[in-house]
Amino acid sequence: MEKGEDSSTFKMGNSAQERSLPYVPDCYVVPPSCEPCDSNSDVVPTIDVSRLKGVDDDRREVIRELSLACQRLGFFQIVNHGINQNILDDALEVAKGFFELPAKEKKKFMSNDVYAPIRYSTSLKDGLDKIQYWRIFLKHYAHPLHRWIHLWPENPPEYREKMGKFCEEVRKLSIEIMGAITESLGLGRNYMSSRMDENGMQVMAVNCYPPCPDPETALGLPPHSDYSCITILLQNLAGLKIFNPMAHGGSGGWVVVPQVTGALKVHIGDHVEVLSNGLYKSVVHKVTLNEENMRISLASLHSLGMDDKMSVPCELVNHENPVRYRESSFNDFLDFLVKNDISQGDRFIDTL
Ligand code: SIN
Ligand code: FE2
Repeated sequence: MEKGEDSSTFKMGNSAQERSLPYVPDCYVVPPSCEPCDSNSDVVPTIDVSRLKGVDDDRREVIRELSLACQRLGFFQIVNHGINQNILDDALEVAKGFFELPAKEKKKFMSNDVYAPIRYSTSLKDGLDKIQYWRIFLKHYAHPLHRWIHLWPENPPEYREKMGKFCEEVRKLSIEIMGAITESLGLGRNYMSSRMDENGMQVMAVNCYPPCPDPETALGLPPHSDYSCITILLQNLAGLKIFNPMAHGGSGGWVVVPQVTGALKVHIGDHVEVLSNGLYKSVVHKVTLNEENMRISLASLHSLGMDDKMSVPCELVNHENPVRYRESSFNDFLDFLVKNDISQGDRFIDTL
């Protein structure tokens, strides 16, 4: 491919990133924007969640910290979450191993069908997006594990075992965090548990951002919020930026999320914004690139079942605080994705 050819000539799995081109083809170039400048990373809270298991005062204090983070940023890092470092390292290693396989092996999973329970692709809707993103990904369902694991890659040989262990551990953690979130809203710790435990979805987005020859001109992912309740994210390198609406006196600014070894990141997704009737904000985030190293991230999206609609609980509604959102399901989001070009980073959240 020559510099200047358009994106429709790209074929899936044969993208610029995989071929390590020494320049960024035009279809990856993000137009200059009037985005506000970066602001201070110190605003990103780190919460020690081991205290959720502590006595009443400890738990209350964590829930207070978590509630503040959800209101201000819709984002926090967690430490002492109880997942062993080996499990995290192993999951990153098998993810990297998958992306290093020959293209023929990865192409088995190639699909542009956003409803598919497993798919390997580049960009959001490969070949259809106006702008391409410097990302290759494998997405697969992960809960209940026994229902989906046989669809996962058999290579690298330890992929299923190691990624499966990570998914199970992260899922347990997601239930704990969701319990703390619903408790912080005054709904009680078990408010969502049956809808998320038995029937909830877990979608694992295994992302690879290859080194980019001109990291300032392209993006790994455009600004977006997640359509989950919460997303728990593990990365091997910094690259994630979140939008802080309160920076620069309220005009907002992008914040680099600092890399903390062993920490996991929690994104508040659109469905917790709905659940809280707007008190908690789903975080708008994007992925920036670097010139030298391949970045791997594992984003575990936790949500209600495919057709289960999230709506504002009547407990949180009164005269001063009317319902602000229409109900929606995970499936509604996928339908939205199919019908719209979201490569410019549009958000799916249905306000009244
Ligand atoms: C995502 O937004 O799904 C991934 C973010 C990241 O790679 O850090
Ligand atoms: Fe995301």
